[in-house]
Amino acid sequence: MIANETKLDRYGARGILGTIGETPLVKMERLFPESTLEFYAKLECFNPGGSAKDRPATAMIEAALKEGIISKHSTIVESSSGNMGIGLAQACRYYGLKFICVVDPHAQQQNIAIIKAYGGEIVLVDNPENGDYLTARLSTVKKLIAEHRDYYWPNQYSNLNNPRSHYRGTIRELDKALRGDIDFLFVATSSTGTARGCRDYLREKRRKTQVVAVDAVGSILFGGKAGTRKIPGLGAGVISDLAQGQEFDRVVRVSDLDCVRGCRRVARREAVLVGGSAGGIVEAVSRLGNELEGKKCAAIFHDSGKRYLDTIFNDEWVKSELGVSNPEAL
Ligand SMILES: Cc1ncc(COP(=O)(O)O)c(C=O)c1O
Repeated sequence: MIANETKLDRYGARGILGTIGETPLVKMERLFPESTLEFYAKLECFNPGGSAKDRPATAMIEAALKEGIISKHSTIVESSSGNMGIGLAQACRYYGLKFICVVDPHAQQQNIAIIKAYGGEIVLVDNPENGDYLTARLSTVKKLIAEHRDYYWPNQYSNLNNPRSHYRGTIRELDKALRGDIDFLFVATSSTGTARGCRDYLREKRRKTQVVAVDAVGSILFGGKAGTRKIPGLGAGVISDLAQGQEFDRVVRVSDLDCVRGCRRVARREAVLVGGSAGGIVEAVSRLGNELEGKKCAAIFHDSGKRYLDTIFNDEWVKSELGVSNPEAL
């Protein structure tokens, strides 16, 4: 059932999941004109589901199929209204598995529509538990799993196939393209799957690369106090199994406004629409300033700005949520 369908046929064509990976690497020469740093961005929005999360989503499902943990009669349950939800909905539809996505009222309508279009079922949790929606969503997932023997929770926050998919794909492709010569790698963090997979590969290959984890202000992944965050995808309010004890060469924290500023800048200078966490990375690079002079920097841009047309790229939203009336002047 798996693997064969994603192999190339005699015309070089394959099933959609076989097109995950080998995403383009873009040289951004106009982003930091005042600096001598070289900047390369790996655009993960070119994955078929639109983000880097296609890689762990498919890896988790394929591993569970291969190991016999699930069969074609299983139902996959996960709590995510973002890129992982979309990646899982795509992989489940491809393999003919039922998918239930547990979301809360903050979920973006566009993402819910995409998950539904892939045939996913949405379960809306509308009461927070102890004032927290994440806790309520996880309780619902656990309840569903406990009540149904054929339900399976991949759990991106503890599943080692998450970092493994980036170890085997994302960073291998990037390292190969830049011939092992990367001074700084910038990776946005939430589950830490991407950053872990990249760091482990680079350490194993004994590369000189410094891995910079870009986290959100208000995330507690690397210490500090939890706070409100408005840009999805970046940061975490709890330390998951995967994130526990993870160390990177550097951690840079960026605000919601930094993400907006970075996204607008990439659109203006490079004609590329990037998502919120990528905008945050651009601001993190700016912040390291002189340290990066003459260095070769690479970054993983998790998704596209098309997922943020109602927020980051909407002046009204930026004004009402972040209190800034002319984001283009940022
Ligand atoms: C847009 C975006 N950026 C960054 C991340 C962080 O990736 P990871 O969970 O691998 O740490 C995510 C994760 O969902 C994301 O959706």
